[in-house]
Amino acid sequence: MPHDFMPGLAGVPAARSAVSDVDGQAGVLEYRGIRIEALCEHSSFLETAWLLLFGRLPTQEQLTQFTKDVTCHRRIKYRIVDLIKCLPEHGHPMDALQAGVAALGMFYPGRNVTDVENNYWSAVRLIAKLPTIVAAYARLRKGDDYIPPRDELNFSENFLYMLTETVPPKIWVETFDVCLILHAEHTMNASTFTGLVTASTLADPYTVVASSIGALKGPLHGGANEEVVEMLREIGTPGRVRGYVEQKVQAKEKIMGFGHRVYKVKDPRATILQEVCGRLFKETGTSPLYDVAVEVERAAAEHFEAKKVYPNVDFYSGIVYDKMGIELEFFTPIFAMARAAGWLAHWFEQLKENKLYRPEQIYDGEHNRPYVPIGER
Ligand code: CMC
Repeated sequence: MPHDFMPGLAGVPAARSAVSDVDGQAGVLEYRGIRIEALCEHSSFLETAWLLLFGRLPTQEQLTQFTKDVTCHRRIKYRIVDLIKCLPEHGHPMDALQAGVAALGMFYPGRNVTDVENNYWSAVRLIAKLPTIVAAYARLRKGDDYIPPRDELNFSENFLYMLTETVPPKIWVETFDVCLILHAEHTMNASTFTGLVTASTLADPYTVVASSIGALKGPLHGGANEEVVEMLREIGTPGRVRGYVEQKVQAKEKIMGFGHRVYKVKDPRATILQEVCGRLFKETGTSPLYDVAVEVERAAAEHFEAKKVYPNVDFYSGIVYDKMGIELEFFTPIFAMARAAGWLAHWFEQLKENKLYRPEQIYDGEHNRPYVPIGER
């Protein structure tokens, strides 16, 4: 049956899912029916990950067990550390993460994706080990030693510790955990779809997550958070914002961190991140980038409101990470660490009713062309 071609599959459902939902007109995002505002206020990243994976909030006993399982699996094999050491020091950390995750699959070769228990342990390992790989590359590429995880530190605390060798202040830990919750899931986006296409071949979960990481890297998706901070640094001061925005509008160029396929209002995650910035800066002092960002939002509103183009999650997240001294290139890997929970939740869901993705194309090439010998072309 012929279908209309929808570039970018815009508006085309690719799966049935109960993992999360976005109301793009009202600016509402729910994970398993619970609004993200409530999760950011009351939950933790690991509890939210469990919610996404298993469809309901865990009991205390379930959360304790899951936290213990993840904590026990944070270490990475020395061969993965050796692999990371061999990567070029100027390589992008998303590539290092993708390579590290793909290599993980070689150490845990259970390929039977109908084995529910094995799938649980794969999900635990991936959620536990991604931060260790990210932090290991951040240190090893600068010639510093890899810092192994510390079991007594919670998920976010431990990641920041592995990056800096310092137990971070409480406000950093709380802020970072909220950032992970906000990035944990977002319906049928490019990286989730990529993972599901790979998963539909019954590939192992390490390959699934490695392929999602590849899709997340691009600047139209997760890579935008890096470009936002580059842009804010380039602008430099609030006084230079208007000129910059005018010039972008004239050149018909996009402003990174703005616009979304689904949201036609401000992304609720951007609103929460602004509140988070407020709380963080109260304790640590403001960020000059934040002042520039607020001015960009104001100036952009004058041009983009008619097109319903507003700040998305990537507009404020980089400012938070920058304030914590995290290098620009690690913003998207942090997004991936969080989004692994969402990717795996969709993977669990799809395995219950898997069907190989094999869409159609509309062929608009020629037919019956002669083969011309090379000397006559
Ligand atoms: N700056 C200026 N104008 C924009 C922007 C922007 N960032 N985004 C969309 N528009 C305009 C666009 O020029 C077009 O105008 P016109 O109809 O006059 O040609 C209209 O809005 C529709 O844009 P589109 O690119 O066709 O819409 P889309 O649904 O394909 O794009 C998007 C969604 C996210 C790719 C796009 O908004 C974009 O490129 N944004 C910048 C990159 C970015 O911030 N990405 C992060 C997305 S959210 C987090 C994530 O998914 O990882």
